[in-house]
Amino acid sequence: MFHTSISGSRFLSALGGRTTNPPPIWLMRQAGRYLPEYRKVRHQAGSFLDLCYSPQLAAEVTLQPVRRFDLDAAIVFSDILVVPHALGQRVEFVEGEGPRLQPIRSVKDLEKLTPALAVERLAPVYETLERVVSELPSEIPVIGFCGAPWTVATYMVEGGGSRDQAEARLWAYRDPDGFQQLIDLLVETSAGYLLRQIQAGAGVLQIFDSWSGGLPEDEFARWCIAPTQAIVDRVKAQAPGIPIIGFPRGSGVLTKTYASQTRIDAIGCDTSLPLAFMREQLQTRLPVQGNLDPLLLVVGGEQLEARVGEIVSMLGSGPFVFNLGHGIVPETPPEHVAKLVAMVKEVRA
Ligand code: CP3
Repeated sequence: MFHTSISGSRFLSALGGRTTNPPPIWLMRQAGRYLPEYRKVRHQAGSFLDLCYSPQLAAEVTLQPVRRFDLDAAIVFSDILVVPHALGQRVEFVEGEGPRLQPIRSVKDLEKLTPALAVERLAPVYETLERVVSELPSEIPVIGFCGAPWTVATYMVEGGGSRDQAEARLWAYRDPDGFQQLIDLLVETSAGYLLRQIQAGAGVLQIFDSWSGGLPEDEFARWCIAPTQAIVDRVKAQAPGIPIIGFPRGSGVLTKTYASQTRIDAIGCDTSLPLAFMREQLQTRLPVQGNLDPLLLVVGGEQLEARVGEIVSMLGSGPFVFNLGHGIVPETPPEHVAKLVAMVKEVRA
């Protein structure tokens, strides 16, 4: 049922610093609303969080894209906002609107959280991982993940998504020591959460810092680089062999500082990073992952083909994992994903 290769995992080879031909491919948000079979299970589950916490259904949607397409990795189906939820914050996903949280705006609000129980409350995610790992051949590793402390904090403080993360940035400027307490709590919880995902069989980890873009350099160093480095160090102390991909979306030239200081094993690149920058400034130090515009995958056709050719010819002669520069959007035709995967397997660097 699953596509296997005789040469072990191309994905793990690339993350280990080797050049593979063709490069491995997986796609951020490869499970999701663009797949009719996902929408069916999602409907059955009730709420989005119910789906995240139902190991049997979450395992099913994790496997759906891997059955359909010749992908080199699965990513456990969950969300970065299960962490605030497990910390005791009220989190809900409003249909068509996105996440809504009861905002936390001060150190006093932190008292409402129940951190001691958080890592254990995420037991359904570990069970999902165990189920998925037992269904997949070892050539297809399962990625565990968490949100980076800064990105998760922006949702916790804003009470949802926002254009400029103003509430979190204001708190961080006005009361850095207080805001640091929230970040420290997220470092502890996320590191424990990732380690439990490894125990449950995750073979690779990714840390999503979706809102790291737009911070000035010193704030980026304090709120994005330092907490990520602390998580990486904690995870590496206990599980040194598990590769960690960092994805500091939108961080531009600071991506290079992030890549060299966080001690991550591979760098996820967003759509806006120039291929020459990725090749000359990043890939010379560590494997790169990225960075096709998810909207080109909606459009398809010759433009998609041309861009895939460019990306592979620029990056395919070094350690490289093909991915999008951000998650698949719901409007994506599944046939375009099939076409993309076939193209990446065919083009030669
Ligand atoms: O396939 C995979 O990549 C694994 C599953 C996954 C989801 N969310 C499922 C999901 C992963 C890795 C995430 C990460 C995530 N979640 C991020 C970081 C990556 C990024 O996109 O920047 C962020 C910021 C979130 C928070 C989040 N979750 C938002 C803002 C939303 C609403 C927007 C939307 O697309 O609806 C979600 C909901 C969500 N997470 C869905 C899925 C499949 C859609 C909800 C649904 O099915 O009803």
